[in-house]
Amino acid sequence: MENKIIDESKQGEALEIKSSETLPSNGKKLFLESYGCQMNFADSEIVASILIDKGYTTTTDYKEADLIFVNTCAIRENAESRVRQRLYDYKKVKRKNKDVLIGVLGCMAERLKHQFLEQEKLVDMVVGPDAYRDLPNLIAVAEDGQQAINVILSKEETYADISPVRLDHNGVSAFVSIMRGCDNMCSFCVVPFTRGRERSREPETIVRECREAFDKGYREVTLLGQNVNSYLWSGGGLKKENLTDEQRAISTTFAQLLEMVALINPDLRVRYSTSHPKDMGDDVLYTMAKYDNICKCIHLPVQSGNSDVLEKMNRGYTREWYLDRIAAIRRILPDASISTDIITGFCGETEAQHQDTLSLMEEVKYEFAYMFSYSERPKTLAERKYEDDVPSEIKSRRLTEIVDLQRKHSEIRTKEGLGKVFRVLVENVSKKSIEMMSGRNSQNTIVVFPKGNLKKGDYVNVLVTSCTSGTLIGECV
Ligand code: 5AD
Ligand code: SF4
Repeated sequence: MENKIIDESKQGEALEIKSSETLPSNGKKLFLESYGCQMNFADSEIVASILIDKGYTTTTDYKEADLIFVNTCAIRENAESRVRQRLYDYKKVKRKNKDVLIGVLGCMAERLKHQFLEQEKLVDMVVGPDAYRDLPNLIAVAEDGQQAINVILSKEETYADISPVRLDHNGVSAFVSIMRGCDNMCSFCVVPFTRGRERSREPETIVRECREAFDKGYREVTLLGQNVNSYLWSGGGLKKENLTDEQRAISTTFAQLLEMVALINPDLRVRYSTSHPKDMGDDVLYTMAKYDNICKCIHLPVQSGNSDVLEKMNRGYTREWYLDRIAAIRRILPDASISTDIITGFCGETEAQHQDTLSLMEEVKYEFAYMFSYSERPKTLAERKYEDDVPSEIKSRRLTEIVDLQRKHSEIRTKEGLGKVFRVLVENVSKKSIEMMSGRNSQNTIVVFPKGNLKKGDYVNVLVTSCTSGTLIGECV
């Protein structure tokens, strides 16, 4: 079943950082591997920054590392199993050299701390997503032969002042965290338990980080948060629900932040992820319409097309509300592409409710979707309240139906690009041929075109002459 799922959580990726030329090396090598969502990869850039400051250099071979860190994801059971397997690989290194230190970072830390540290003795350190500033201290504790742990979740930490070390491979697209945590409590989701309460980062530090990326040659920033539409900065420590009308009036909203970042430079593209339909207001759509450099691409996870299931999921909207938001996007941003997340086989989901998801997909015809079988997660509302009662064969069959329908829609949407001219940001040499380059258009579709004199970070207008199921092919005009 796994290979049928179009899974957004990336496979583990080892990240290589060139060590700073100005800082003295401590002679130790760090292996840092990340799993899960873009936020996790952005967090790894913070971790890298903190450890490079302490003199670490990096390696992409865990067998030669002095320090092995894995930044983990807990969103579905299979994400956790992959990480566990990796920990057994690392353990073999430790058997050969007991001075090697192994640490688990991120979303699995809180739940599995005792198991990893005490029961299975797989790791020396367990560090939650709000405790990365404490890493140098925790490493010192572990070097002393003691178990090191910090999984305290913070209400304030945003790492606002830390300049991340960019770990991407192309030097063109950077990811910038604008908030942390989530307060939504969707009943299926473990994130509020692993990443804590929602908090927004000070806008000036976000704009500064984006400007620095642009000055270093980056041409695209993606603003990241679990629910960016509820971004609100009202001064440090002030909670949204306690704001007076006056404080609210001078707060920075997501639409305003988006505008501030768009104004840095017209050649800096701006994307964001992820939106929540309940908070997706027209203000953001109008800001997107106003600036050419804000990409016309919206990821709006629906999860289910049935209002009763949505209520059980505690999503805070109905099918009708969601479709109204889609209509607003089509009205204000007629060129926008829309993608989504869908969970199939949630507790008690009937065949008719599953059909509602398929019919909603028909109505929207998403460009793209991440599709998952429901996976029960510990501590969540659904785990406590509902039975995970859709048999796995049925989940699997429904998922196949959803994936097949999405494949059809993606093809239809890709074909709509034929004959059109798109402004494309050049990102890479094409995987298929060194004579070709690839990049993406504003709608986030991959476009392939002849190399000519183009280099990464350039913009080029491409007339689309043919396509495959998901890629546009064309010539520069
Ligand atoms: N089971 C399956 N999918 C899940 N997601 C979140 N929690 C679960 C779960 N327990 C999916 C949702 C979310 C995406 C990031 O992961 O679709 O939008
Ligand atoms: Fe999870 Fe819902 Fe928050 Fe997304 S919005 S992280 S699905 S609780």
